[in-house]
Amino acid sequence: MSSQPLVLGIETSCDETAVGIVRGRTLLANVISSSVEEHARFGGVVPEIASRAHLEAMPHVISQALAEAKVALEDLDAIGVTAGPGLIGALLVGTSAAHGLALSLGKPLYGVNHLSSHIAVDALDESKQLTPAIGLLVSGGHSSIIEVKDMARGVRVLGGTIDDAAGEAFDKIARILALDFPGGPAIDRLARQGNHSAINFPRGLADSDYNFSFSGLKTAVSRYLQQTPTAHRADVAASFQEAIVDVLLTKALKACIDTGLETLIIAGGVAANSRLRAEALRRTSAAGIELRTPPTELCTDNGAMVAALTSLAVSGGVPPSTIGFSTLSTAPLDQPIWQ
Ligand code: KG4
Ligand code: ZN
Repeated sequence: MSSQPLVLGIETSCDETAVGIVRGRTLLANVISSSVEEHARFGGVVPEIASRAHLEAMPHVISQALAEAKVALEDLDAIGVTAGPGLIGALLVGTSAAHGLALSLGKPLYGVNHLSSHIAVDALDESKQLTPAIGLLVSGGHSSIIEVKDMARGVRVLGGTIDDAAGEAFDKIARILALDFPGGPAIDRLARQGNHSAINFPRGLADSDYNFSFSGLKTAVSRYLQQTPTAHRADVAASFQEAIVDVLLTKALKACIDTGLETLIIAGGVAANSRLRAEALRRTSAAGIELRTPPTELCTDNGAMVAALTSLAVSGGVPPSTIGFSTLSTAPLDQPIWQ
């Protein structure tokens, strides 16, 4: 198999029907159809609506990605698909489509871990060498600090959240502040008009090396809003965001220093946060650490990240998954490719 495999990746773990195509580490196409607006009035993703939307969007998203990449299905070397974690019904639409394609075309199929693929999207920055790094993975369902040596063969988890994920905390606080769903981008926007040092919200688990807790912060923000009816909402949003950003970066930088790894990759939906990106740049520059953050459109869910991880697996000699593999709503980060 070529060291520059042509790979199509399918992502349907939540509300994005997404297909990406890469050749080796080069991104050729990244097409996303989101059902987010259909969920907005419910204040969260409704699994049944997401599954139906995937089913409707899938053929069109695949064709558009092939047209954008200027390749045909027959040209592909392998197909990758998110097998978990995620919403089971939503995942099944993607894995069924991927099985259909792989079987009819006679191509190898890789079931990939959604979390690992968030980190693997960093490989699409071809100007950078793939060096061992610390990964800060912050999404709607997960917040972890990991040691990344070989993305396609597994990572070492150093710590994670003991309650809410970072993105979940953004979404819950946004709801309290009566902002739109999803809450992360809405808080990011509102916080730009506020003072991030206006309120000193708690930094959870300051004594633990790499674990996070955001539930105390959530309670502190709700209590503050109840007790301060005249609160300036932008100051609350900015101060809440600052508390999260501070905890995430303090621990991620500690992991770099403790392990001696000089590269920090920040990935997952929350990595699109403008304050997190700016503060990460400031702190890593001061510490002499190289910062890698994917472009914002590759931080939130997409198919390019699935194709990127699959491509690394193919060129690294990782065997394809067994046809008929199952989807999992939870999956550990040390299992990047389904066997
Ligand atoms: O990675 P992702 O697209 O889906 C999951 O795998 O969960 O992450 C979605 C999460 C949501 O909680 C969303 O509010 C958050 O990422 N998010 C943000 C921003 N953009 C998306 N959080 C903070 N600031 C943002 N700009
Ligand atoms: Zn995700």
